[in-house]
Amino acid sequence: MISAKPLSGKIALITGANRGIGLAMARLFASAGATVIMNSRTVGSLDALAAGISAEFGVPVQPSYFDVTSAEAVKAGFMAVHKEHKRLDVLVNNAGILRDALIGMAPEALIDDVIATNIKGVILCSQMAARMMARNKSGSIISLSSIIGRVGNEGQSVYAASKAAVIGFTYSLAKELGPQNIRVNALAPGFIDTDMIKAVPAEKHAKIVGNIKMGRLGKAEDIAQAALFLASDASAYVTGQVLGVDGGMLV
Ligand SMILES: NC(=O)c1ccc[n+]([C@@H]2O[C@H](COP(=O)([O-])OP(=O)(O)OC[C@H]3O[C@@H](n4cnc5c(N)ncnc54)[C@H](OP(=O)(O)O)[C@@H]3O)[C@@H](O)[C@H]2O)c1
Repeated sequence: MISAKPLSGKIALITGANRGIGLAMARLFASAGATVIMNSRTVGSLDALAAGISAEFGVPVQPSYFDVTSAEAVKAGFMAVHKEHKRLDVLVNNAGILRDALIGMAPEALIDDVIATNIKGVILCSQMAARMMARNKSGSIISLSSIIGRVGNEGQSVYAASKAAVIGFTYSLAKELGPQNIRVNALAPGFIDTDMIKAVPAEKHAKIVGNIKMGRLGKAEDIAQAALFLASDASAYVTGQVLGVDGGMLV
């Protein structure tokens, strides 16, 4: 049976939810009946968005402001969720940054920022989520990897390293948390039409689209639909997987 509200009764936290893929997920999860906790590091950026989504879909949608790179801030954010809801069913590690640089030109600050956001942040949030989910012997952790973490890209070696690390982390955590009925999966989007790829030069953009078998960039909603599957009980027996959502870039 396919439920019209597959996330009804579930509490879902999405990091980096004030725009792009994270925002699309927040909307879709709310439409699917979840209580959604939208995270951003930019204080105030979620207040109107969360209120609007809540009014549209009739579910609680709450802003939660913390920077995923700070262990202290992450802990405080998750403790607040625990205090109010006493449980967490879904974590989406969506917050991420892309910083291009040829390897000889990559400053230490760029390396630190990308690693801190894209993998340390994923580890810190998953650690807190796993503790909460273990109490209920149930949960789904979904992390955003990337096609770049699978096949690499010139000028994106640091980003690729961080996104490949997400895959290794996902496999390990799936093994560790499976016995507690906590599922751990990753999404590997191709090229998705968000702010993140706005800086791609026109000729490179055309070349990328030329490599997409389905002939178009992905939409944030395409990734949100895949996240909904991994968040819901429709994927109750799916763990330790990396789901490519890339319009056929790898076939
Ligand atoms: N777009 C693509 O083609 C593509 C492809 C593959 C994978 N992905 C991955 O998908 C995820 C979402 O990407 P997107 O395209 O939606 O990117 P985006 O539009 O640039 O949004 C990134 C989000 O992450 C947040 N963020 C960044 N650093 C943060 C931090 N330290 N703490 C909390 N939030 C933070 C940003 O918040 P601020 O507004 O405060 O900066 C923003 O909400 C990323 O992990 C990305 O690597 C994207």
